Amino acid sequence: MPTTSEIENIKKSPATFVVFGATGDLARKRIFPALFKLYKANLLPTAFKIIAAARTEHSSENFRAIVDESLSAVDKEKIPSFFEKIQYVPLDVAEDKNLTEVTNAISEFEKEAAGCVKRIYYMAISPTILEEAVENLGKNGLHLACQNHNDNKPLVIVEKPFGQDLKSAQKIAQVLSKYFVQDQIYRIDHYLGKETVQNIFAFRFANELFESLWNNKFIDHIQITTAENIGVEKRGAFYDKTGALRDIIQNHIIQLLALIAMEEPEDSSSKSIKEKKLEVIKNIKKLTPEEIKTSTVRGQYEGYLEEENIEPNSKTESYAMTKLFIENERWQGVPFYLRTGKRLTGKVTSIILQFKDRQHKIFEGFENPNIPNTITIQIQPNEGIGIRLTAKKPGLTSEFEPVAMEFCYKTSFDTPQPEAYERLLLDVILGNQSLFISQEEIEESWKVIDPIEEAWSKNEVPLTVYKPGTWGAEEAEEILKKDGREWLQPILTICKI
Ligand code: BG6
Repeated sequence: MPTTSEIENIKKSPATFVVFGATGDLARKRIFPALFKLYKANLLPTAFKIIAAARTEHSSENFRAIVDESLSAVDKEKIPSFFEKIQYVPLDVAEDKNLTEVTNAISEFEKEAAGCVKRIYYMAISPTILEEAVENLGKNGLHLACQNHNDNKPLVIVEKPFGQDLKSAQKIAQVLSKYFVQDQIYRIDHYLGKETVQNIFAFRFANELFESLWNNKFIDHIQITTAENIGVEKRGAFYDKTGALRDIIQNHIIQLLALIAMEEPEDSSSKSIKEKKLEVIKNIKKLTPEEIKTSTVRGQYEGYLEEENIEPNSKTESYAMTKLFIENERWQGVPFYLRTGKRLTGKVTSIILQFKDRQHKIFEGFENPNIPNTITIQIQPNEGIGIRLTAKKPGLTSEFEPVAMEFCYKTSFDTPQPEAYERLLLDVILGNQSLFISQEEIEESWKVIDPIEEAWSKNEVPLTVYKPGTWGAEEAEEILKKDGREWLQPILTICKI
């Protein structure tokens, strides 16, 4: 929550939010609902305007009806006044068609606000047209602040995936830097806006209890899972060109890995945190062609080819798994098993750290003495943290059993958790870049992913078909089995309230 003086500043600084790609999934499902929630919480400037821009012809009224479907039913009475702030402008930002309408709409709003307004551009468009779109913002002078207000420079928000590979990510960065300097560019990975993801930081560095155990002497391995039960839905055209590895592992999962594995930053500044995350990502060992064959899995759910806008013989993966190592003193030898997929058993994102089995001599002869401890950080749903301990079962036998200690958000806190996009959009308005990622992090992540994508594109790892409602490609079980381990099922573990 911002401080009172920050809220006062927000209220008195007029701003306009231009959402390019306003009819797309991201804008409808995430951006407009988040803006509405900020509006309801009175956290938007008093003079505020949303310019919704997309290619389809709509009147502002039609467009508002589309947005209405995505807004929550709570506080319905606030919707009409929120809608008054939205103006729809049909245009093609990649083809440079009608962008002058945005300039006109901003000028009109500046007349109403009787002064300069902050301009925030949200590029909620396909990464394949981002370069052209940014170039066209520049060509139309939209990167400039209004006259004589150079300190109120426009901000631009870009979304993952940042390009398709290292090369395209660098090209996008080049174009962005032609028109915007670093502190004007906000690169969103919405997982960083999730309350539970931010809590990883507090859990690790505000609890002295864990720091001495957080290394390869005690931790056997780490599993990170982002599973979804939904399929590609209406995003077939985008998803088929992207795949699970680029869609989730390159960004969300590598960010989670970085937060779990990073060294403690010197302070809480955005710069220090980014430096430490970057260090870890740089230290991820790049897989050799041989390792790619034995440590990665790609799968596609049965029925994927029948989804809308999917190429008939598509080889795009909807499930991806990889085993990675971090080459530094703390993590040498500790495997990080990462997996993601669509149409799996359920929706869950979790990080599980499994401790080593110490094989203590004093428990020889006991039943089940070696149940390794685990720490589960459940990002969603049933948000919380669970620790698996071993306890002696009451009774006359010497039998051990795993028991759980849990902290659950629902029972520990009354305060509702803000949505990730709500938090991130508020941070953009406040000018706080801590929860946004740097170009360097993006590039280092692509260096990990590119060799895998290349091998997969040559079919060096066969694509397997998996049944919807399962945990995905069975080969991923095999990889852990060969290492003498197994996947721990996150949904079953904690905070089942
Ligand atoms: C997006 C991906 O970044 O994250 C989607 O493009 C995925 O494919 C979504 O469905 C998952 O986000 P969340 O917040 O629902 O876990």
